[in-house]
Amino acid sequence: MESRNDMEELKLSATADKTERYRCLTEQVKSLVGDEKNIIANMANVSAAIRQAFGFLWAGFYLCDNDDELVLGPFQGTVACTRIKFGRGVCGTAWKLQRSVIVDDVDRFPGHIACSSYSKSEIVVPVFKNGKVIAVLDIDSDRLNAFDTVDKTALENMVRIIVNE
Ligand code: SME
Repeated sequence: MESRNDMEELKLSATADKTERYRCLTEQVKSLVGDEKNIIANMANVSAAIRQAFGFLWAGFYLCDNDDELVLGPFQGTVACTRIKFGRGVCGTAWKLQRSVIVDDVDRFPGHIACSSYSKSEIVVPVFKNGKVIAVLDIDSDRLNAFDTVDKTALENMVRIIVNE
C-alpha cells in the first residue's frame, strides 16, 4: 500500500481544550502552507483543515472584488451566496470595520445573510495584505455562542499564515 505524505493527513488533537486544538492545527497549517504563495490554494487547505478539526457547519473565504463587493472563494460546507456588498451581512461588516466580528446569535444581528437555516453563530476574520483587507474568513456554527476570543486570536493568527508575505 502506498504511504501517504504526513503533510496531507491532518492530525487532530484529542483534547477538548480549544486553545490546544488551535495550537495543534496552526502548526499543521504552517506546514501545509509552507512557502506556497498562491493564496487560493492556501485558503482551500485552511478552510478544509478548520472544518475538519472543529466540525463547523461552514468554513471558507470571501475575496474582496471591485472594492465594494466580496465574492465567494474556497470553502467547505453547503452552497453559499456568491456575492456580498461592502458593509452588508457579517462578512461585509467585518470588511468595513477592518476587524473580526463575533456573532453569538445570528438572529440578533441586523442584516445577517442566512446561507443556511442551521447556522446559529458566526465569526468573520479579515485577511490583511500590506495593511489592506483582501478577503475575509467566515465560519458558521450550528450552535449558539460557538465563538469567543480564543477562536478570534487563533484565527487571526491563522489567516496571517496563508498570506505568506
Ligand atoms: N452569514 C454571512 C454570509 C455568508 S454565509 O454564512 C456562508 C453574512 O452574514 O455575511
